[in-house]
Amino acid sequence: TRDSYQYLKARSSKLIEFEISAPDEVIHVKLNEPLYSWTIENLVKNAIDAMKGKGKLQVEIVKDQKFVHILVSDSGKGIPRHLFNTIFEPGYTSKKRGWGLGLSLAKRIIEDYHKGKIKVKHSEINKGTTMQISLRIL
Ligand SMILES: Nc1ncnc2c1ncn2[C@@H]1O[C@H](COP(=O)(O)OP(=O)(O)O)[C@@H](O)[C@H]1O
Ligand SMILES: [Mg+2]
Repeated sequence: TRDSYQYLKARSSKLIEFEISAPDEVIHVKLNEPLYSWTIENLVKNAIDAMKGKGKLQVEIVKDQKFVHILVSDSGKGIPRHLFNTIFEPGYTSKKRGWGLGLSLAKRIIEDYHKGKIKVKHSEINKGTTMQISLRIL
């Protein structure tokens, strides 16, 4: 997660304020690294799109008993509640040049391949969005 974060931060506009918070301990999960970093990259790109190039992007790693949660938050336009599930459907996009495939693939990667969960954790119109990936700890 830190590697993807650093990679994306280094290549993003300086108008995006990046922040990461994570425990110091190493948390072990069974992971396909390229698919996982692709997923993080897609969440971060959606976040940056939602902020129209300017705002705060936060990555947070939180551990509980059985799961580690990876949260990607932005200060962007938000997602209406009635679209919380729809955005994961292939082909759904609100963008002129969007394909609407990022989140549907992300869902397949996290849920089918890694047996984890991905969802909109919360979102408020014109305030921002938090997306959450949850993976079982080894
Ligand atoms: N962080 C976000 N903030 C606001 N809307 C979002 C966010 N992430 C995804 N969305 C919405 O979900 C839609 C689908 O996302 P995605 O599957 O990645 O396709 P695309 O990025 O090509 O539109 C986006 O078009 C947008 O409307
Ligand atoms: Mg996308």
